[in-house]
Amino acid sequence: MLNIGNKQKRVDGPQKVTGKATYAADIASPFYHAYVLQSTIACGSITAIDTSAAEAFEGVKGIFTHKNLPERLKNKVDYTDPLSPPGKPFRPFYNDKILYNGQPIALVVAQTFEQARYASKLIKVTYEEKKFKGSLSDNLKNASADRAPEPASNRGDFKKAFKNSDYTIIREYRQSRNYHNPMEPHATSVEYKSDGSLVVYDKIQGVASSLKYLNGVFGLGADRVQVKSDFVGGAFGSGLRPQYQLFMATLAALELKHNVQMVMTRAQMFSFGYRPEVIHTMKLGCSKDGILKALSHKTVGETSTFEDFNETIVDWSGLLYKCDNVNLEYELTPVQSYTPLDMRAPGGVSGVYALECAIDELAHEAGIDPLEFRRKNYVDYDQNEDKPFTSKELMACYARCEEVFGWKNRKDLSKTEPHLLKGYGMATGSWEALQQPASVSLSMNEEGTFTIKCATADIGTGTYTVMSQIAADKLGVSIEKIKFMLGDTAFPDSPIEGGSWTVSSVGSAVASVCEKFKYRIADIWKRNNPDYQAVAFEDISFQKGKLEYGSKTFAFTEIMQQASKEELSIAHSESPAAGQNTHSGYAHCCVMVEVTVDKDLGIIKVPRLVNVSAAGKIINPKTAENQLLGSMVWGLGMALREEGMVDTRYGRVMNANFAEYHIAVNADIHDIHTEFVEEKDDKVNPLGAKGVGELGIVGLAAAISNAIFDATGKRLRKLPMLLDDVL
Ligand code: MOS
Repeated sequence: MLNIGNKQKRVDGPQKVTGKATYAADIASPFYHAYVLQSTIACGSITAIDTSAAEAFEGVKGIFTHKNLPERLKNKVDYTDPLSPPGKPFRPFYNDKILYNGQPIALVVAQTFEQARYASKLIKVTYEEKKFKGSLSDNLKNASADRAPEPASNRGDFKKAFKNSDYTIIREYRQSRNYHNPMEPHATSVEYKSDGSLVVYDKIQGVASSLKYLNGVFGLGADRVQVKSDFVGGAFGSGLRPQYQLFMATLAALELKHNVQMVMTRAQMFSFGYRPEVIHTMKLGCSKDGILKALSHKTVGETSTFEDFNETIVDWSGLLYKCDNVNLEYELTPVQSYTPLDMRAPGGVSGVYALECAIDELAHEAGIDPLEFRRKNYVDYDQNEDKPFTSKELMACYARCEEVFGWKNRKDLSKTEPHLLKGYGMATGSWEALQQPASVSLSMNEEGTFTIKCATADIGTGTYTVMSQIAADKLGVSIEKIKFMLGDTAFPDSPIEGGSWTVSSVGSAVASVCEKFKYRIADIWKRNNPDYQAVAFEDISFQKGKLEYGSKTFAFTEIMQQASKEELSIAHSESPAAGQNTHSGYAHCCVMVEVTVDKDLGIIKVPRLVNVSAAGKIINPKTAENQLLGSMVWGLGMALREEGMVDTRYGRVMNANFAEYHIAVNADIHDIHTEFVEEKDDKVNPLGAKGVGELGIVGLAAAISNAIFDATGKRLRKLPMLLDDVL
C-alpha cells in the first residue's frame, strides 16, 4: 500500500471541478460589498475629500476615509505581518498622505458590489501634488546598500583574479517589473457574529499571517477572530502578506456590525506587490580552458519609500559554480510605488537570470560549449556558507537533459524553414530546500477514519493530496481513510505556504504524527492483550488499517473497541532536521530550450522546453510535474511577455489589465517535457523531499535568452525580450 511516489490524483479535484470548493469570495452569507477608490496621484496629500453624493447614493451603508478612521486605530497600532520587511508597513486611511498611485483612499460599502463601485465614482478628491521620481533609472543616485539585505560575504580577490583572467566579460542585464496575477483575485469575506466576534475568509498563503495582522491592527485575538482559507486560486507570493482588502473588509464589518465582503478587481490587483525591476552588472573572468576565476554580481533594485524589500538576489552567483574570487553587492533605491513582494522563487529568478546569461556569454567568449562550461565549473560544496550540500544530483540532471533534448546533435537535428532562425539555449536552475517548524494533530474515529489538521494552505500546489498520501503511506491505510484539513487558525500552527517548504515542513510533521499513532495503538493493543505485552514494536507491522503481528492481524478499530475508546487523538510539533543547520539544502535543475525567430517579423517562439530536476524524494510525480509545468510556462512569460509598465510622470501602472499586461497563453506553449532524476537525501528533512513549487521558473528566462542569441547572434540583455528587440 505504498502511497508516497504514486501519481495520486488530487483528492480535492472533484470539489474543484464541481464548484464545491469554496474560495474566499464564495461564502454564501448575506454580505455588504466594499469597493475602494484609489488615488490618482503618486505623491502628495489629499486636501479635500467630498463623500456627500456617494453617501446619498442608493444602497450605500458606509464610507471610510482618513477623515473618519476610528480613534483606536490612530495610536500604538502594529500593522506588521510575519513577512514585513524593515520599514513602516502601509497603513490604509491613516492620514492624508499619498505614498503611491493607486493607494486606497476611500472605501464605499453598499448593499451590492455595483452600488459600491458606482458610488465610489461620486467621491470628489482634491490633492496637493509633490514632485517625485517615478522609476528605478531616475532614482539610481539614491541607491544604497544600507537599505538592502546584506549579501553573502565576498571571498578571494576579485579584482586581481579578474585582471589575470584570459577571457572576461562585463555586462548589464535588466528585468522589468512583473505582477503576480493569480487567477483568483484577492478577496476577504468577513462574517460578523452576534457576539461581535468575526470569522474571516481570506485569500492568504497562511491564515496565521492574517491573524497576526488583525491582532496588531484591530486588537483581535484568536478568541475573537477565526481566519479560514480552505482554497486559494493561485497566489505565487501575492498572498504571503495580507493585502489591503483584509483591512478594509474587517474595518467595515467592525464599524457597521455586519458581514462585509471585498473582492479586488483585476486592475486593483496591480495596486500592491510585484517582482521589482532590477539592473544587474556582471563581471566574469575565466582561464583559457574555461575555469571560472572571478565573478562579480551587483544588483540595484527598486523598493517603496516606506519599506525596504527583502529578497536574496546576488547570493546565487556565489553558489551555483565553483569560484574562489567572488564579489557580491546589492542595493535598493526607493521609488514612488507600493513595496515589491515575493514572487515565485523571489530573488532566485532574478539573480540566476543574470548569472546564467553571463555564464553563457563567457562560455561563448572562451569557445566552449555552454553545457561543457557548466560541467567544468561544477561545485559540490556551498562556498557562500562554507557547508556541504545535503545532496546535489545536478550532474545527473545535465546528463539526462542532454540526452532527452538531444543537445549534442542539436544542430544536425534541426529542420529549418527558410523564414525561421533556430537556436538552442540552456541554463541551470536551483531553489532552496528549507524546512520550517510545523505542528499537526491527528485523530482516528471509531470507523477508523483519520482526520489530520494543520493551519497550512493549499495554494493550488496539492497540499491536500500529498499530505493525504504521506499519512496513508505511513499509517498503512488507504487514502480514502484520510481527511486532511487546513487553512484555519483553529488548527495547529504552520508556516505560511511559501518558499517551497510545505512538503518538507508540514509533510515531515504529518509523517511523525503517524509514527506516534502507530506507537500509541501498539501500546493500547499490548495493554489489552496480556499475551503480547512483551512484543517489540519493531516486530509489528501496519497494513490495511490493521496491526500485524506474526500471522495475526488486529484492526485499529477493534483495538479501540477493546479499549473502550471512541477516538484517539495525537498532537505533534516537528522541528527542522539537524541537516538544515549542518548542510545546505537546494534542489537543482537543468533546462534546455529551442527557439525560432522569424527573420522578417521578429516573432520569437519556443517550440520545445525540457527540464530535468533533482529534488529529492518526489512524493507525487503528478502534482510535482504540475508545479514544474506551471513555473516553466511562467518562466517563458517572464522571458517574452510580462512587463509592468509605469508612467513615471504619474507613478501609475499603465497596463493594469490582461489586454496590455501580457502573460503566456496556450498559443505560446508547445512541447514541454519534465523529468526528475533520482536523488537520495537523508539530511534535508525526514522525508528526503525537496520542494518543487519554485524550481522550474529559475533559469528559464536565461535559457531562452541564450537560445535567442544562438538563433540570431543578438544578445538581448533585458526582459521581456520582444520582437522589436530582435529586428
Ligand atoms: Mo512563494 S514567492 O514563497 O509564495
